[in-house]
Amino acid sequence: MEITTPEPAPVAAGPDAAERQSRDLEERIAADPGSFRILTGDRPTGPLHLGHYFGTLANRVRLQRAGVALFVLVADYQVLTDRDVADRLGEHVEALVADQLAAGVDPSTATIFRHSAVPALNQLMLPFLSLVSIAELGRNPTVKEEIAASRQAAVSGLMFTYPVHQAADILFCKANLVPVGRDQLPHQEITRTVARRFNERYAPLFPVPDALLSAAPLLLGTDGRKMSKSRGNAVALSATADETARLIGRAVTDTDRNIGYAPEARPEVSNLVLLAALCQGRDPREVAGEIGSGGAAALKRVVIESVNEFLRPLRARRADLAADRAYLREVLADGEARATAIAEATLTEVRTAMSMTL
Ligand code: TRP
Repeated sequence: MEITTPEPAPVAAGPDAAERQSRDLEERIAADPGSFRILTGDRPTGPLHLGHYFGTLANRVRLQRAGVALFVLVADYQVLTDRDVADRLGEHVEALVADQLAAGVDPSTATIFRHSAVPALNQLMLPFLSLVSIAELGRNPTVKEEIAASRQAAVSGLMFTYPVHQAADILFCKANLVPVGRDQLPHQEITRTVARRFNERYAPLFPVPDALLSAAPLLLGTDGRKMSKSRGNAVALSATADETARLIGRAVTDTDRNIGYAPEARPEVSNLVLLAALCQGRDPREVAGEIGSGGAAALKRVVIESVNEFLRPLRARRADLAADRAYLREVLADGEARATAIAEATLTEVRTAMSMTL
């Protein structure tokens, strides 16, 4: 595949700029999907949930179907940024691959791989670390928040430097597009800095990749707070219909029996309406109007029914995949062989540009 360095898009100065730029990018993708290569990834810390599905997974699948080349990283080394030991790693890795495939990622054209299985990718971290200052790393607001939320007694070097590792994740395959949530924008700036500085200092090897924000509205957890595996407020893609009903049945609502969609004024109720609407592929206002004065009980019945109906085929595919662990391992082995060939070629180019080869 020919990777052309697209003319650099203007640096996103704030949320609105990032949004505008993402809309521009969508137009360029529609016009010429073959000129884009996406790298995206997740940490294997537990099952993916509906927030992941509507926030990023659906977007990945859409872009892949549109003809964009897709690289999906299982970021296993990154699990260690905020904990001492990565527990049940093998199990989480397999579950993550099953979730992706069940959601529609096509492994015959996508490259799915783990950090730890692609040594040459990790080696890029060393020259890349030389391109950023400690002060730049220390200013990253997402890392600052994660340090504040971490249960570790001390901040590890990996926590502080993982955005540079992320630059290696993206640049090893010369991806030029990274679909991200807002929290990842500071990391994306570090990747762009690393690419620019390497290109200036040594040789123009890397595209300066753009961040692509998802257009989907943000889903909250069933308690009205940020959806998160560890808070028990998220519907896992792999959950059973009964588990789903129990979780949504416990969701926080309010005392106004008239159901409406007003995300600012009534965040919890509106979030449930949004969830049903996303699953039904309809407008949230219309869904709320139908429930009318039925109150929280009627709302929850609709949400449970919509989620279970929507996830039914995905869950069936996922159950088949989970039963075939040999196949999941084969998908990874295949992706990892491809990723390794690409990473080794890039590392050779990097070492040559740095006059490290004799
Ligand atoms: N930090 C991302 C997350 O927590 C996962 C990730 C690792 C990633 N490397 C990446 C995302 C490279 C995009 C590009 O969700």
